[in-house]
Amino acid sequence: MNEKLFIPIILATNKKDRKTENVAKLLLEEMEERKGIETMLFDVKDFKFPQDNYGQSIKDQFPEWRDAIVKADGLVIVTPEYNHGYPGPLKSALDLLLPEYKHKAVGLVGVSMSPWGGTRVIENLLPVMRELGLVTSSASLNVPRVQELFDEQGNLNDEAYKERISSFLDELAWMAQALRWGRENNKSEK
Ligand SMILES: Cc1cc2nc3c(=O)[nH]c(=O)nc-3n(C[C@H](O)[C@H](O)[C@H](O)COP(=O)(O)O)c2cc1C
Repeated sequence: MNEKLFIPIILATNKKDRKTENVAKLLLEEMEERKGIETMLFDVKDFKFPQDNYGQSIKDQFPEWRDAIVKADGLVIVTPEYNHGYPGPLKSALDLLLPEYKHKAVGLVGVSMSPWGGTRVIENLLPVMRELGLVTSSASLNVPRVQELFDEQGNLNDEAYKERISSFLDELAWMAQALRWGRENNKSEK
């Protein structure tokens, strides 16, 4: 068994000049630094969704995503807030799978240009997470005023964020570890 937790990241928007990409890349860097976590970044702009089909029936057209979630102990969703909700391509990507998410941890990262840091998109994702069988970490990460947080080259302007990311990852890793133990040791089934 791989001792490291495998927790991929998904970047939820395919919009041009998306600021959320900087946040996803920062998360990727910070997660790669952690000895106990293996990760990779998925980008919804790379998912070529058909115009005439949807959902689990087409999951085999996305083998990298499917296999990653089968193997995963958790998932980090890095999403902007668009009209208080999440971008459609994120939902299209999430809806490709269902049993593959069961009893796995999810950490939610909300990004916005407003001072609220995506609080509303995170709230709106919660019922979707529950339906998918993902277990939401109690620690989410809010990124307000994202336009000020990175410079033109995408470098972080405020190093204090790394501390906040660290606390977010601590809680997510704890949850992912506990759920892995549960999946492997559960004796409650009849
Ligand atoms: C369609 C659309 C809707 C938006 N709705 C909100 C919103 O509800 N709340 C908010 O704080 N920002 C909103 N924004 C602004 C985003 O927070 C801003 O674009 C930010 O940079 C994150 O998105 P990005 O990754 O696309 O850049 C919206 C942006 C778009 C394109």
